[in-house]
Amino acid sequence: LVPDFYNEVWMQPDFTVHNTTPAGGRRSVLRLPHGEVQTPVFMPVGTAATVKTIEQSVIESLNAEIILANTYHLYLRPGHELIRRAGGVHRFMSWQRPMLTDSGGFQVFSLSKLRKVTPDGVEFRSHLDGSKHFFSPEHSMAVQIALGADIMMAFDECVETPASWERTRDSMGLTHEWAARSKRYWEEHRHEVPWGQGLGIREQGLDLAPGGSTAFGRTYDHTRFSDKHQLLFGIVQGGMYPDLRRESAERLVEMDFPGYAIGGLAVGEPREVTREMIALSLEILPKDKPRYVMGVGYPDEIEEYAKLGVDMMDCVLPTRAGRHGLVFIREDPNDRASKPIRWNIKRVDNAEDHGPIDAGCKCMVCERYSRAYLRHLYVSDEPLGAMLNSIHNVAFYLETMTRVRAELQAQV
Ligand code: GUN
Ligand code: ZN
Repeated sequence: LVPDFYNEVWMQPDFTVHNTTPAGGRRSVLRLPHGEVQTPVFMPVGTAATVKTIEQSVIESLNAEIILANTYHLYLRPGHELIRRAGGVHRFMSWQRPMLTDSGGFQVFSLSKLRKVTPDGVEFRSHLDGSKHFFSPEHSMAVQIALGADIMMAFDECVETPASWERTRDSMGLTHEWAARSKRYWEEHRHEVPWGQGLGIREQGLDLAPGGSTAFGRTYDHTRFSDKHQLLFGIVQGGMYPDLRRESAERLVEMDFPGYAIGGLAVGEPREVTREMIALSLEILPKDKPRYVMGVGYPDEIEEYAKLGVDMMDCVLPTRAGRHGLVFIREDPNDRASKPIRWNIKRVDNAEDHGPIDAGCKCMVCERYSRAYLRHLYVSDEPLGAMLNSIHNVAFYLETMTRVRAELQAQV
């Protein structure tokens, strides 16, 4: 009997490229267990199963097609077993569209304390309460399968910057070993996903009505997507060294993942370097699979990278900036492709400006609220201010990508 994980059909992404421009930009569709994603796409970051300050139905109304959550945070709190018992992260947070979970690699290295890295994995202390934990590629995958996002990420090491060539090479080698182990674990345990072909939920005795499960009167129709599987993306590392970047991309392609991410960027390097590392990785990564650049960037950067052929991006910037009273506007509000600018809502000259944040923006915030009101909320430390600024910023990023997709579709 041939184990079904040798049947590699399920390992292929359902990804269709509709148009490619001379510069390599692509207009594509990625079909995932919880729905379709038009790419290039920007993914709002929902670290702790919440896009900070924005409620799920609002994220839906902004037409976000996929959001991201973090394995590291959800593992520490509330715990992945609790989320598995809830039926997976979709059902836990009531989000029925596609989701992606980052592996915890990056967060362990950026947030936790007293890390000890061995070839087996990394021991660390929680940034919440100092408790001791161990994460290996297998642990990360087990947690990500329990969470049940549509796309999971391989467990990687993101090297500190700046790092020597030797240090970067060694770290990259570890990332490659961990990528192979992540993939093996996924192959062997993929059916453990809470919504996986009706397996997990029934086994755990959770209520599952025919065709879906219900909670609070809403139907969670996971089964309609049961022919599709969680996907696992490998992550290219290699720091700022072109030879290592190429080697990393080649090694990961040999391992054959359903999609590929480019990690270790936007860690303080100049923008030209980020662009160069992306461009040379894209040359090697297959054109028929989705390609994701992690943790970038400003609105003009995501536009630039999408036009190079990047299909997916995520960044905390729109929500983080929003909480700090920074909102994105266009230099010329009537030209949506003009230069994006970061505008400080607490500026005194907003105090009696009764116009919108951005006169050309069609978002629910710009349609309804003035700069004067938003400034008042910010200086009064009202939570609604952080929420409205974040909504506008996420809408601004999504609008940017909608325009870029139209351009990529039209260009031949
Ligand atoms: N998010 C931003 N950069 C990275 C990276 O290099 N690795 C992972 N896992 N997540 C990231
Ligand atoms: Zn707006």
